[in-house]
Amino acid sequence: MSSSPDPNLDHVREIIRAAKRVVVLTGAGISTDSGIPDFRGPNGLWTKNPAAEKASSLSHYLNDPEVRRFAWQTRLHSPAWTAEPNDGHRAIVALQERGKLLALVTQNIDELHQLAGSDPARVIEVHGTMRRYHCWGCHDEGPMSVMLDRVRAGEDDPACLLCGGIVKSATISFGQPLVPEVIERAFEVARECDVLVAVGSSLQVYPVANLVPTAAQAGASVLIVNAETTALDHLAHSVLRGSASDILPVLLGS
Ligand code: APR
Repeated sequence: MSSSPDPNLDHVREIIRAAKRVVVLTGAGISTDSGIPDFRGPNGLWTKNPAAEKASSLSHYLNDPEVRRFAWQTRLHSPAWTAEPNDGHRAIVALQERGKLLALVTQNIDELHQLAGSDPARVIEVHGTMRRYHCWGCHDEGPMSVMLDRVRAGEDDPACLLCGGIVKSATISFGQPLVPEVIERAFEVARECDVLVAVGSSLQVYPVANLVPTAAQAGASVLIVNAETTALDHLAHSVLRGSASDILPVLLGS
């Protein structure tokens, strides 16, 4: 492997080489090179339409049929259905194959990590998944394709066939509590790791952003890979500025 353009990168590669229990924390920025927009970056969904962030709260979704109708159309036409994993996702698989990955905590709901070959047992989806539906009334769950077929067939807000309740994606919306055992596992691995690599996240959403200071306080080296500054750059041992799909193969590959 030729030396990287960034001398900082060579030093940081040494940290990964010496590491035994790496936790990688990913955000929407790792999927932008796969064609899925992020939220707060220059072309982010919330950047372009601040009102959309408010509308994505659980209370708006449950109380306003118009918000649900728009959400079902957004799900139906999501670029995630045709997105492919990129070199950033694949670099994390390479780290796993080197036996260095303790866990992959992702805020993303696109499942591109699993599609890239990340071991599902090591993937902690703290914000759930868009690929399954969840009934808010009886908690029935299933493949999102079942609901999208009903939307394609003309139902603009498909209700639960078991209880008539409101159906949403199996994701965590603003105002919705995280699944306790999932977020607790994320904090456990943040305390156990020797290196935490935060990739493609603005690190503005809690409690997940607290994984960074948690790892640092437990003695881990924190590395941040992001196209822009993040809210927690000051906690990082090193910050690598740029695209995850360019940096991660050099940082995490063999
Ligand atoms: N490589 C590296 N960084 C990138 C890339 C890229 N190719 N593309 C975008 N970024 C950076 C952006 O500059 C931004 O700082 O990724 C970051 C993405 O930040 P956000 O859009 O805030 O996404 P994220 O941190 O995952 O948001 C957390 O907020 O809206 C909620 O539930 C949603 O899980 C999401 C949570």
